[in-house]
Amino acid sequence: MRTNIVAGNWKMNLNFEEADELINNIVEFLENETLENVGVIVCPPAVYLELATDQAQDNDLFVGAQNMSNHESGAYTGEISGRMLASMGVNYCIIGHSERRKYFNENHEMLAEKVNMALKNDISPIFCCGEVLPEREAGKHFEVVKKQLEESLFHLQPGDFSNVVIAYEPVWAIGTGVTATPEQAQEMHAFIRKLLVDKYGHDLADETTILYGGSCNAKNAKELFANPDVDGGLIGGASLKSDEFISIIQSF
Ligand code: 13P
Repeated sequence: MRTNIVAGNWKMNLNFEEADELINNIVEFLENETLENVGVIVCPPAVYLELATDQAQDNDLFVGAQNMSNHESGAYTGEISGRMLASMGVNYCIIGHSERRKYFNENHEMLAEKVNMALKNDISPIFCCGEVLPEREAGKHFEVVKKQLEESLFHLQPGDFSNVVIAYEPVWAIGTGVTATPEQAQEMHAFIRKLLVDKYGHDLADETTILYGGSCNAKNAKELFANPDVDGGLIGGASLKSDEFISIIQSF
């Protein structure tokens, strides 16, 4: 049975004290609760990763980075390598987020390199895909997502692919308050799973966690997660408040 996941992508938010408090609240919740088949991941800004990995020991919290370099090491000022992240106890890394595609010009090839670099360091990529509004309006959303997966993930051998989490994040739903309807989410998730069946076979496709992201919050999470192919969420704004994030975790 595949694992359900609720992951918080904090993006570029919170100061040190706020980050510390948020992690403490999540850890306290996890220590007092037994969750059935739900993994919880926090993806804080890189400067707070150590705070998170320190707190994530001996409990059910996992830690993800929001980005990693496609290079191994060397003269890349400001960059953070997969090896560094792994040595800090980081388990996951978001790769291919639409904000990085848009503002940092990350293309399919670079994302494939980042995926490889993550896997090489035993870090599971949370690979984001999703269409922009004009693509959906033109009926091209399936085609767009298919290409994103083919170009940056489908070079992987099954053994490596089994460590990948996919996040479908329609760009028009990110930070807009406009959530995909449960039907729209399920339709795309089922489409993605079918692509995985065709590429890797039923067993691996069934085992792959596919998250939904885009204005997912405590109010709509239950309805979204109730769909057979929606295995949890990648949460932005609503992951910054512990009450709301915890309530999303409890939506399973
Ligand atoms: P919001 O939940 O703020 O829409 O962000 C979603 C997202 O981009 C998570 O990666």
